[in-house]
Amino acid sequence: MTTVEQLLDRKGHGVSSVGPDDSVSDAIKEMAVKDIGALVVMDGENPVGMFTERDYARNVYLKGKSSPKTPVRDVMTAPVIFARPEQTIDECMSVMTRKRVRHLPVMDDGVLIGMVSIGDLVKTVIEEQQHTIEQLEEYIHG
Ligand SMILES: NC(=O)c1ccc[n+]([C@@H]2O[C@H](COP(=O)([O-])OP(=O)(O)OC[C@H]3O[C@@H](n4cnc5c(N)ncnc54)[C@H](O)[C@@H]3O)[C@@H](O)[C@H]2O)c1
Repeated sequence: MTTVEQLLDRKGHGVSSVGPDDSVSDAIKEMAVKDIGALVVMDGENPVGMFTERDYARNVYLKGKSSPKTPVRDVMTAPVIFARPEQTIDECMSVMTRKRVRHLPVMDDGVLIGMVSIGDLVKTVIEEQQHTIEQLEEYIHG
């Protein structure tokens, strides 16, 4: 079973983030430029929240808030739910399902070392299943 660490080694360890005092406008522009659905809200070295497309839809748009004037800290989701590098992707899927989140920043000894999304997990599960199918076919057909 693939671990978060193995997934990050393949996918990369970069994390896109935003500051708590940055505006919602700047945050959604950053998400559009990077083509991602979530940003970690960093207060210096500390992850203090998540800002996602869902946060924008529910906490900004539906509440009629102004994107240029609203700081991310007012509409982010906190506390952050993290993954650890030694966890398996099955464990992460279970956390995402229970907590109803689609992104898990990865913390190792208090340091942010990456991000996994639901798409990353699904892609990895499909690759694992494909590998199993190929092994079984080889076993059957010799
Ligand atoms: N083919 C692939 O390798 C692959 C991987 C992931 C997602 N997807 C597809 O992209 C679509 C959306 O994916 P999603 O719902 O998982 O979320 P998403 O659009 O937020 O994530 C897309 C990719 O960006 C990364 N990412 C997101 N936020 C990040 C951040 N703040 N810092 C660093 N990396 C970040 C994710 O880990 C993922 O690899 C889906 O259709 C999914 O199937 C494809």
